Amino acid sequence: MEKSIAILKGDGIGPEIVTQAIKVLDAIADRFGHNFIYQEALMGGVAIDKTGVPLPQETIDVCKEADAILLGAIGDPKFDNDPDATVRPEQGLLQIRKALELFTNVRPVKLYPALENLSPLKKERLVGVDLVIYRELTGGIYFGEKTKTLDSASDLCYYHKDEIERIARLAFDEATRRQYKLCLVDKANVLESSRLWRKVVQEMSAHYPEVEVSYLFVDNAAMQLILKPSQFDVILTSNMFGDILSDAASVLGGSIGLLPSASFGQSHKLYEPVHGSYPQAKGKNIANPMATILSAAMMLRDFGMEEEAKAVEDAIENCINLGITTEDLNNDAANSCTEVGLALCNLIGGQSLHSTIRNL
Ligand code: IPM
Ligand code: MG
Repeated sequence: MEKSIAILKGDGIGPEIVTQAIKVLDAIADRFGHNFIYQEALMGGVAIDKTGVPLPQETIDVCKEADAILLGAIGDPKFDNDPDATVRPEQGLLQIRKALELFTNVRPVKLYPALENLSPLKKERLVGVDLVIYRELTGGIYFGEKTKTLDSASDLCYYHKDEIERIARLAFDEATRRQYKLCLVDKANVLESSRLWRKVVQEMSAHYPEVEVSYLFVDNAAMQLILKPSQFDVILTSNMFGDILSDAASVLGGSIGLLPSASFGQSHKLYEPVHGSYPQAKGKNIANPMATILSAAMMLRDFGMEEEAKAVEDAIENCINLGITTEDLNNDAANSCTEVGLALCNLIGGQSLHSTIRNL
């Protein structure tokens, strides 16, 4: 099969982790006889530096033409400490989500038994944890009207019923492929927009009688994610709450460096790790490429390449079991980002585990 993939390496560790993901995709292409054609484009701080804007039109065009988009990370601290900066790397990410109408962001949380000692939670609380967050991605407070005067500022949290319905439907459908449980996380005791979410989800639940629906306020949900994460199956929530809860959920497995995500709308799909650009690690070859590589696995699955996706996921699990991991997972005997990428390619290429370790 031939597939075109737009590559947005972005900022910080983005280029390093995406390079490893491309190596892994090439190993998959070799083993399964596919042809992946990559086209790189600029987004984020690197785009600002080169073109003055965080999302050049050319990047949008490249992304629109591709079968899928693979993104590293966006963000550069040189912009964070200037509240008056009018161009920011993150605008690129928000603009691409909007331009391609990527209204659903799927963030699965899977735990690896070999890493349970890295979780800040006690072992017994991790039993049975397997959840996925459906985060709305093109609405809410991120995109509502913004105002600013010298000494006041506001961000509007606006949702239209249709924006809630389209992601809620996908989340309900996902629940029917999983454990038939859906939890809407909102702040309906305070926010009008949350009450609209609740109303829409309540109405929709009538069409999904087999799905058990629960409702949690976001403050309680944050607590429940830490107290008893195994109670969750599909979590459905708005843009901002999903952003916060997915970082919280990422620590359950021991490192945010393991969490992939997929964003999609009607016509386009973008895959990116949940973590950020980790500028402190930039260029040091220490970043964990696994979240990006698992995002690439989600991409393969969406291409209809189930066996290929599974081969990547199995290789990741093997690497973790073998202790071939970056320092976030293994401080004492850490491997580099490139070594992890190489080990994954070797495993995918069918080399024995012994030679994989020996060759590092
Ligand atoms: C994420 C990130 C982004 C977001 C930032 C970089 C704009 O935190 O994808 O979770 O807030 O959506
Ligand atoms: Mg985030």
